[in-house]
Amino acid sequence: MPAKIKKVSDEELEVQRQFAHKVNELTSKRYSSKPLACVVTYGCQQNVADSEHIKGMLEAMGYGFTEERTEAKLIIFNTCAVREHAEDRVFGNVGALKKYKLANPDVVIALCGCMMQQQHIAEKIKKSFPFVDLVFGTHVVYKVPELIYSALTKNRRVFELPDVDGVIAEGIPVKRDNDKKAWIPIMYGCNNFCSYCIVPYVRGRERSREVEDVVAEFKSLVDDGYKEITLLGQNVNSYGKDLEPKVSFSELLCMLNELDGDFRIRFMTSHPKDCTKELIETMAECDKVATHLHLPFQSGNDRVLKAMNRSYTREKYLSLINYAKELMGDELSITSDIIVGFPGETYEEFCDTKSLVEEIKATSLFTFIYSARKGTPAAEMDDPVPYEEKSKWMRELLALQERISGEQMALHKGKVFKCFVYGKGKQGDNYLAARTDGNLIIEFVGDEGLIGTFQKIKVTEPLTYVMLGELERNDL
Ligand code: SAH
Ligand code: SF4
Ligand code: F3S
Repeated sequence: MPAKIKKVSDEELEVQRQFAHKVNELTSKRYSSKPLACVVTYGCQQNVADSEHIKGMLEAMGYGFTEERTEAKLIIFNTCAVREHAEDRVFGNVGALKKYKLANPDVVIALCGCMMQQQHIAEKIKKSFPFVDLVFGTHVVYKVPELIYSALTKNRRVFELPDVDGVIAEGIPVKRDNDKKAWIPIMYGCNNFCSYCIVPYVRGRERSREVEDVVAEFKSLVDDGYKEITLLGQNVNSYGKDLEPKVSFSELLCMLNELDGDFRIRFMTSHPKDCTKELIETMAECDKVATHLHLPFQSGNDRVLKAMNRSYTREKYLSLINYAKELMGDELSITSDIIVGFPGETYEEFCDTKSLVEEIKATSLFTFIYSARKGTPAAEMDDPVPYEEKSKWMRELLALQERISGEQMALHKGKVFKCFVYGKGKQGDNYLAARTDGNLIIEFVGDEGLIGTFQKIKVTEPLTYVMLGELERNDL
């Protein structure tokens, strides 16, 4: 591991356990009933995973949980900074807490996550939101017990926002949101500095968890009956490059695939720059690895890709997709992220994005209008195209993908998919909902006892966003 990336020591984790104990004692004296916490999560799965750890620590501190802000003694917003819209939502929702806090001064209001890691935002909270008690950054999540203890005992606001390369904390408690589907962060941070993106500034440098730690967590999830486990990282393809000895992401997938049990391995996000043929071969060979490749291309135009600092070309991207299609054929599902209206992008350049969308035939796309992020190089670039024009381009892109998704869905009629039955369906009372490898939803009539199992389901009628199907065989 590079010298600056520290694993949080056992002693430090023990200190945090002591603080958790102290919070427990304090709150049981201070409140007549079990205090409730409301944890609200914005942003990506990395934040969802962090919130699950925050909830794990809160549980150890004696907190129960509520979705109702007005029932809570502790409200935590875990924020996202990726686009302006995400930040505006947080400011709106924090502002709405002011009255509640004034009427209930013993309630602790805390803000954490990527947005707080930006200095100008922390300053704004300091000045304009005086009722916020605690603000902490992405690198000190493991210190939640100590921070909550400080917020409860000190007569001042607590700001803990170290700007460091990042740490790795193993073994902190986790309270998962779902009992069949789980997230495992395998690495943190990002070194890529795409010119539009704030993530490297707020999440620190790339650092991988040790293979043994990932495998042990994975195994314990399988033992606990988890069926769909998603490995997380901003760029999982660079997993293990910082480990000693080096390990590749494909090697990690192979190790997990070898574990006993009935489960499906997913992963996100893959960066095309580091996506290797070896990874695609591994996906094709390992039966437990979902044949779903989330490979964001952002733009189909080489000049724009260069300005974005993405370090690959349209041609390289297409060659990866074509190789994946060659090896996985119909089984493969591709999804991607796209940015519309990067500074200086012309309509002709945007048309290259549309033509790439035509070519790859993705199952679905996550599309975003460019949002300037303070401190990133792209925020300094000329951005002459008005927002209304970019919105028009976006509508063109959405219409195109809707047509393609429809065509793709229609091709599935009569096909049989191995699906994970994850819950009740929406098409009618006796419908269940299941997910294919490629993240497509099929609803079918079945007994509720099938929830939480893998089944083979035949598509009978592809609708626009969901497919109807029937149970093919019960003995998977
Ligand atoms: N690490 C992942 C992406 C994480 S952010 C990757 O590289 O693929 C998720 C998505 O948000 C990005 O893929 C991008 O499409 C979008 N995004 C990031 N910064 C953005 C910005 N400033 N404006 C608009 N969209 C942005
Ligand atoms: Fe952002 Fe690029 Fe890193 Fe993804 S790879 S998190 S888009 S800088
Ligand atoms: Fe948002 Fe942070 Fe994720 S900026 S997208 S929550 S890594």
